[in-house]
Amino acid sequence: MSKLVIDGGKPLYGELRVQGAKNAVLPILAAAAMAEGECVIHNCPGLRDVEKTVIILERLGCGVQREGNTIIIDSSVLTGCRIDEGLMREMRSSIIFLGAILTACSKAEVGMPGGCPIGLRPIDLHIKSLRRMGVSIAEEHGYLQCRCGRLRGCDIHLDFPSVGATENIMLAAVKADGVTTITNAAREPEIYDLACFLNKMGARVRGAGSSVVVIEGVDELHGAEYTIMPDRIVAQTYLIAALITGGRIRVNGARPSHMQAALSALTEMGARIREDEEGVELQSSGTLRSVHIIRTMPYPGFPTDIQSPFMALASVAEGTSVFVENIFENRFRHVDELVRMGADIKVEGRSAVVRGVKQLCGANVEAYELRGGAALVLAALSAEGRSTVSGIDYIDRGYEDIEGCLARCGAEIRRVCT
Ligand code: UD1
Repeated sequence: MSKLVIDGGKPLYGELRVQGAKNAVLPILAAAAMAEGECVIHNCPGLRDVEKTVIILERLGCGVQREGNTIIIDSSVLTGCRIDEGLMREMRSSIIFLGAILTACSKAEVGMPGGCPIGLRPIDLHIKSLRRMGVSIAEEHGYLQCRCGRLRGCDIHLDFPSVGATENIMLAAVKADGVTTITNAAREPEIYDLACFLNKMGARVRGAGSSVVVIEGVDELHGAEYTIMPDRIVAQTYLIAALITGGRIRVNGARPSHMQAALSALTEMGARIREDEEGVELQSSGTLRSVHIIRTMPYPGFPTDIQSPFMALASVAEGTSVFVENIFENRFRHVDELVRMGADIKVEGRSAVVRGVKQLCGANVEAYELRGGAALVLAALSAEGRSTVSGIDYIDRGYEDIEGCLARCGAEIRRVCT
């Protein structure tokens, strides 16, 4: 078990290059399993969730090699169509493999998914959509048993713009018979990234990034080379690190167009932001004001994944900020830990009211999920004295070398094994 030990209170100054996006690499690696040939994927971040995804690919029979941040997948001979319950429980996004395995093998056996404990996270939209495409699905002993002939293109309206369901349908539809149209599709940039990769493999996907995605089935998908988009949530986390410590950080590779909701909230809170073609820089103006209200929404609304880092920031801002979490019902688990550090936060259902305090104090705190863990690291960077953050396996699911990146900007942070 490791912990992060952080001596807070130092302004951070420096420059970083943002890692590839976790939420883009996972569906793209799943898509690579459908290629009749070799795929070369660049800019894959070194994360636990990526390691787990590689294990899934290997169990399906793919040859996988890793050269630095490049992953090479040879899926010319798939020998498996099963994902163990253990792997599914550890990583909810492995449900994305369902569409890809069904396309490649016409059958799939996958455990019920797990993931960060941030709410119920059902998969009903995935199941309902795949059934419409001709998949028969039964649940037996904790596994989904799925069978199909050639998948059928059809019109699918999502009741909620689920990211995972949109991706799963895209993966199932690329080789389906006929045209699939998804309405009320999720519009996240990672969906556009997946579509770009699929099209490089020979698929015909139009409209990704808008709420109507049209997929025309093709007979063959070949290997392709692709570079994963930058991680917008990680980029925003490091910008917040600059603001919460009263410093200045430049994040190279970050795309401001992917981060408009958060950048406008950061400006409201007193950040000076400079955007250019190479990335984004945030400089503190010396004052940190509260943010009027943050309501998490599907993209291009305010991302649920950056809600908790913003709450750490609001904890030390002047004035009162209100947060409303509309995406996941259990995404306030960081609140009790922030309160242990001296924050003044009251939660009522899906809303939290944060009254800014002058300074947080170092404390021993625990991460219970990925982004909540990042929020605790940010709080510790600004706090007076020493903090230890445990439960950092969660943080490692989404941040590549978080301590190295922050230390390069002057943070006193180290990982210790206990
Ligand atoms: C993805 C992201 C995650 C992000 C989330 C919302 C990945 C690997 N993860 O997760 O970081 O926080 O989008 O932006 O890309 N829902 C249903 N039924 C379903 C599917 C979803 O009710 O079949 C609900 C969920 O419970 C949740 C909401 O829809 O309340 C959003 O879920 P979804 O967009 O599917 O998120 P994920 O794809 O799991």
